[in-house]
Amino acid sequence: MKVLVFGGSFDPVHQGHVALFKKAVKIIRPDVSHIVPAYHSPFKAKSPTPFTLRMQMLKKAFAGITKNIIFDDYELKRGGKTYTCQLIEYLKKHYKNPEIYLLVGTDCLNDLHNWKDPQIIFNNATVIAGKRKGYNENPARFKHIFLPGFFPKLSSTRVRAHILASGEIPPTVPAALHPLIEKHRLYGLKIHDWLKTHLKTNRYIHSKSVAELAAVLSDIYNVNVESAVKAGILHDAGKGMGARELIYFCKEHHIKTPFFEDICALEPSLLHSYASKWLARHLFGVKDKEILNAVAEHTLGSLHMSTLSKILFVADISSKDRKYKDAFVIRNMALQDLDKALLYAANRKLLFTIDSQKWLCPLGIDLWNHLIKQEK
Ligand SMILES: [Fe+2]
Ligand SMILES: [Fe+2]
Repeated sequence: MKVLVFGGSFDPVHQGHVALFKKAVKIIRPDVSHIVPAYHSPFKAKSPTPFTLRMQMLKKAFAGITKNIIFDDYELKRGGKTYTCQLIEYLKKHYKNPEIYLLVGTDCLNDLHNWKDPQIIFNNATVIAGKRKGYNENPARFKHIFLPGFFPKLSSTRVRAHILASGEIPPTVPAALHPLIEKHRLYGLKIHDWLKTHLKTNRYIHSKSVAELAAVLSDIYNVNVESAVKAGILHDAGKGMGARELIYFCKEHHIKTPFFEDICALEPSLLHSYASKWLARHLFGVKDKEILNAVAEHTLGSLHMSTLSKILFVADISSKDRKYKDAFVIRNMALQDLDKALLYAANRKLLFTIDSQKWLCPLGIDLWNHLIKQEK
């Protein structure tokens, strides 16, 4: 009895999963396949996407690939975290002398010996893996088979980041899943609904452009791509409010800002960063302090900017919807050297404010002095 087992968060399932499973079915020719979505993966925070929805997506994505697929809610029934060794033991009990084939991605293969009780896995299952182009042959010391050919370098994290940044579902998600994602407004589509109704069109386009550039920079500077995209898409959420509305909003929600009285009197639009932080926290449930600080600091900066804050500050001033010449210069600089781009962006912002005969907030001056001090 050949049993093929494929587990994962599948949040969401993408074309890479489908290609891997199809090839494994072709090569192994299993008698039965268990698709086992994680309830709470031991390696990740619990998925915010409900188990039942991830299961529905799996059923649509894998429908018709082979007969005898069991969409297994074993992990849901167990609750809490489930380790792969427990899944293997469960299959051993369920079938008489099963020949178990465990399907994993290449990334997992490198890490499998660090999983809980790996010997239970290695002694009772053959590991099946798909290779990505550029992958070096793994010297795995356990029984494993590489599927022939190469598999696309896709990840659910990338899919989620793409949807959150653009409001669109990429073609790397099987078409059969799109209606479900759209119906339940998953992966940030709710944020897009809100932004579309609260921001002017050009501001909404700008927010998407900033999220897109923040994603690019997050790869270069080793920042979590989903954090970068979330900060990018939400950074101007409060920008739909006019001056009086912003002042009222900040007072109503007791939003504390430095130089509040001066800002209200001289440049109330500066309040939008703090209002956006409040909206991110209270309307969109963002708890990550780094994201919230980045949103609050995107206009004036601070003396303690994280890499994410720097990315957002720079992305905001140089996103591709910005048409002035400096945007292009800063954008290219940011791809090479983030700190250099930050200094240049801070410089441009100050000069623009002076040229426009506007009030210079002391926070902007402090940032400039701080960056210059660091340079020396
Ligand atoms: Fe802004
Ligand atoms: Fe902006």
